[in-house]
Amino acid sequence: MEDFIQFHYEQAIAGAPYEGIMNCHVPGLHSLVLQKSPHGMIRVYFADENHTLHMNDPEPSATYSLAIHGHRQNLTLIGLLGRARNDQFALVPDPKGKWHEHDYTSAIIDGKPSMTPTGRRAAMYFHSQRFMTREERIKLSYRDLHSVYVPEGERAAWMVIEGPPELDASQPCWRNTTDPVEYEGLYQPMTHGDVLNILEQIK
Ligand SMILES: [Fe+2]
Repeated sequence: MEDFIQFHYEQAIAGAPYEGIMNCHVPGLHSLVLQKSPHGMIRVYFADENHTLHMNDPEPSATYSLAIHGHRQNLTLIGLLGRARNDQFALVPDPKGKWHEHDYTSAIIDGKPSMTPTGRRAAMYFHSQRFMTREERIKLSYRDLHSVYVPEGERAAWMVIEGPPELDASQPCWRNTTDPVEYEGLYQPMTHGDVLNILEQIK
């Protein structure tokens, strides 16, 4: 894994272009594409000290900054830096549940995001929490519902290896609010300087 990151760091230093998104989904969380293939992408997510991922903690339950969501493809998660925790949930439909289903289109895929409540509600049962490490490979099915927690003020990074697409469209996600999402400042293109800065910190 060190070799893989080091390779991309050296490529970036040599001027190879990389695509990435600053403030991807939440402020302070940045997504960098390291490898593209027809089978799926390999991305690194980097949370800087100003991230809001500490809000994604079942205890105490704040308003989540990163909705509980599934994916279009199966994923493998590998920790690279700091303490990023993969939290998984099981859902039970409940008209009085505090989680509100939202239809979601991703800014990564469609250019601009949207999040619309469907009116369906559910209760969420927290069933696993695991800090990501370099040694472990956390396998996530596209159906698995998760969010990611990082302690407040701490940097963290993890790699996401996508499998081939299992679905054509994004699945709905679940938020514990129906307030509109504040998109101001989200989904900014990553500069080459940002790419180097992130790779420098995780290599
Ligand atoms: Fe995810």
